[in-house]
Formats: sequence, structure tokens, C-alpha cells
Amino acid sequence: MAQPRILILGAPGAGKGTQSAKISEAFDVEHVTTGDALRANKDMDISEMDTEYDTPREYMDQGELVPDEVVNAIVDEALTQADGFVLDGYPRNLEQAEELEDMTDLDVVLSLDVSEEELVHRLTGRRMDPETGDIYHLEYNPPEDPEVEARLEQRDDDTEETVRERLRVYRENTEPVIEHYDDEGVLERVDGEQAPNEVWADVKATIEDAV
Ligand code: AP5
Repeated sequence: MAQPRILILGAPGAGKGTQSAKISEAFDVEHVTTGDALRANKDMDISEMDTEYDTPREYMDQGELVPDEVVNAIVDEALTQADGFVLDGYPRNLEQAEELEDMTDLDVVLSLDVSEEELVHRLTGRRMDPETGDIYHLEYNPPEDPEVEARLEQRDDDTEETVRERLRVYRENTEPVIEHYDDEGVLERVDGEQAPNEVWADVKATIEDAV
């Protein structure tokens, strides 16, 4: 059987990256993430695309969406190369959802549901290991190794002010995408507010049922 094509939706901090890493390993699929792809290309020159700013950095550091034209091209190329994937961070508005329909079919559409208060707590406490890319949380999931702890970094957009703006942008642009998949009857909701392993048990069972 072909590898599954999985879409994971959810607000900033809902646990998309955390669960996608597990999905990628367990189901042997590519983790396609627009956030990581854009962070790796934050200073790419996009001025020829007639955008408000010249690089993705300005949009990301303010918590705004990077223009569709930039992001659509990244996803299109990544999906063409992937034999099975978990797509994380895209689509973030209805226009991107329409583009995605032209790029690929999906086997599973998951939504991780988490309250706003919990999202803010998770994002402001999140830290990343720059050497491995592993994600930690100062309170929920601190590293055991003091060497790792000493080198942890905070993402530029995880300050409280930018987090609040990212959540506003999410409500305005991305919630309609979730409603769209819900209206089509393909959305599988998972309670993302549980402990990571409990969320994982539900995510895994949902994918296994669907493919
Ligand atoms: P992106 O990188 O996609 O960020 P995001 O959607 O805001 O999501 P996050 O990565 O912040 O959170 P997550 O859901 O992956 O949570 P995580 O697993 O890390 O996008 C960043 C920016 O790029 C955007 O603002 C935009 O500018 C641009 N961009 C990206 N895609 C775009 C697009 N399609 N169009 C236009 N612009 C785009 O978990 C968070 C924390 O919680 C961690 O510390 C983790 O350890 C902890 N945690 C996770 N699960 C649990 C749990 N169950 N219980 C307790 N703690 C948990």
C-alpha cells in the first residue's frame, strides 16, 4: 500500500511539531513543515514577488503570514518529492487550502484542539536544541542532560506579544480552514490538551483507522 498522506492542523503551540515527529517515525513518512522550511530561509530575497517586505523574516517575527506565493511553492516542491507525508503548518488560509487540493489528495485530516490559555503557556515555555532540532518545554518536558539544557534557545516569535498576534492571525485565517474540512466531513478531532503520550495514542489510532 502507498504511504499515507496526512494533514495535521491546529493552533500555534497545539503540538503539531511534537506529534508530526512521532507520525513521521511510526508511519515512515516525510515531515513537511512550512515553519521549519521558512525558518531555514528567513533571509531569502522575495522582493521580486511584489510582496510588502523583502524577506520572510519580517512577516514571521511579527507573527504575520508569509505571502501565499512563497509558501505554495515550498509545499508544492516538497510534496512532489515525498512518498507519503505529514503536512504541518499548511494550509493556513482558504486560498492555500484550495492550492493544496490541486497538489494532492489526503488520506487523513487531523485537528489538535487546545485552549488558548494553554497555547500561550506552551509557546512562551518552549525551547529548542539548536544541535538536534528537538523541542522541549521548560516545565512540561525539560531536557535531562544539563549540557543540552545550557544550549537551549527560544524561537524569536515565542515572546508573549508575538504569540498573541499569531493566535489572532490563526483565528482569522486558519479557523475557517478547519471549518472547511469539518463541513466536508473529513476532519478527525483529537483532544490536544492531554499529556503528549495520550495525544499520541489518539493520533496513532486515528491514522490507523483511516488508512
Ligand atoms: P510554524 O512554525 O508553523 O508555527 P506555528 O503553527 O505557530 O506552530 P508552532 O510550531 O509554534 O507549534 P506546534 O503546534 O508545532 O507546537 P509544538 O509541537 O512545537 O510557523 C511560524 C511562522 O511561519 C508563522 O507565524 C508564519 O509567519 C510562517 N508560516 C508558516 N507556515 C505558513 C504558511 N502556510 N503560510 C504563511 N506563513 C506561514 O509544541 C509547543 C510546545 O508545547 C513545546 O514546548 C512542546 O514541548 C509543548 N507540548 C507539545 N505537546 C504538548 C502536550 N500535549 N502537553 C504539554 N506540552 C506540550
